Amino acid sequence: MRFPDDVPTLVHGDVMLRAHRLSDAEAVMEQCTDPESVEWTTVPLGYDHAMAVDWLTGRIPQVWATGEEALFAIESTHPDGRRRFSGSLSLRSRGDKLAEIAYGAHPDVRGRGVMTTAVRLLLHHAFADLGLETVIWWANRGNVASRRVAWKVGFTFGGTVPRWLDQRGDFKDAWVGSLHRTDTQEPKNQWLTAPVIESGRLRLRPQSGHDLDRTVSACNDPRTHQWLPILPSPYTAADARTYHAMVTERMVTGTGVFWTIADPGTDELVGSIGVPRMAHGTAEIGYWMHPAARGGGAMTEAVRLLVPHLFAPTVDGGLGMRRIFIKTAAGNAASQHVARANGFTEYGRERGATVLGDASYDDHVLFDLLAHEM
Ligand SMILES: CC(C)(COP(=O)(O)OP(=O)(O)OC[C@H]1O[C@@H](n2cnc3c(N)ncnc32)[C@H](O)[C@@H]1OP(=O)(O)O)[C@@H](O)C(=O)NCCC(=O)NCCS
Repeated sequence: MRFPDDVPTLVHGDVMLRAHRLSDAEAVMEQCTDPESVEWTTVPLGYDHAMAVDWLTGRIPQVWATGEEALFAIESTHPDGRRRFSGSLSLRSRGDKLAEIAYGAHPDVRGRGVMTTAVRLLLHHAFADLGLETVIWWANRGNVASRRVAWKVGFTFGGTVPRWLDQRGDFKDAWVGSLHRTDTQEPKNQWLTAPVIESGRLRLRPQSGHDLDRTVSACNDPRTHQWLPILPSPYTAADARTYHAMVTERMVTGTGVFWTIADPGTDELVGSIGVPRMAHGTAEIGYWMHPAARGGGAMTEAVRLLVPHLFAPTVDGGLGMRRIFIKTAAGNAASQHVARANGFTEYGRERGATVLGDASYDDHVLFDLLAHEM
């Protein structure tokens, strides 16, 4: 194809896909030097204006000429009211009727739905005009913004491929998803979020990168390890990052949801609470408290704050559960207190069902609470 003459222009509302222009260079450079682009894409480090010009005048005409990529500029109105370059997105040929989608937005227009609209336009072009069968999406594990766009337009996700994406020589774990031309372009799974729930004493909020150090110190505590021996010991910063990645994956696949329990004054982590499992209207609650924050009733308060959200109907933003249960080791008096103080009923025991940090076995004591008991 001849560039730019044969490049189609695709429009929906304010969003246009068009051929790149040399006048996009400044905005391309702004996008390629922003920290999120550096973190999540393979953009070269130290990107400057000359590199943008090289890309616009060399690489882009080349990929159109060879047919290896359909690489578009996105144009939309920026928050300052001016219409200009807003990002790039591409279909990279992966053989007959197959292509990989790739996208990046200019930082000024992110979070405004521009990329979602642009991706929908490109997918329509892919299936209706180019006759593609399947489009594949790859992202570094943890790139939630990219996944959210792919999720909204109907991709089905296949899990995590360890050490698959080469980012400047570092082989990163990869998320992968695909969309077939006959698929509905609607979300295929639930995506759970952790709304902020606050009392004067505590804040339940989504996890953040700032929680990593406190997570490490909490999970290295011998008492935490005694009752949650599933945690690695010693517990390292890498373990905390793996935990954060697991939490993200549960939430984006709609299989679990977790909150950091924070001090409302400092926003510092004092504990963690979440729903590691949920099915058929039943949710399990799991939790741990940082040793420095134990003994003052904080976890009892955290459960008290969380329970109404778990029972609230989904139309009201809750999880719509009808039953919640808590499993504790028989020797874990503090955890049982949390369940009892919140009105849970002890309904049974699983004998010798859990192994503790000291390698001894203990019973599980089971507590539950039904929605109508609230
Ligand atoms: C990924 C990227 C292209 C998305 O562009 P965008 O303009 O933000 O996309 P949209 O506004 O259409 O949609 C983004 C959605 O993700 C959500 N989102 C963004 N960051 C999020 C986060 N950290 N956690 C949860 N959701 C997030 C937004 O709220 C929005 O969802 P909503 O409309 O339901 O509220 C942009 O973030 C980007 O350029 N990132 C750097 C480059 C990159 O990662 N490219 C993809 C490589 S695979």
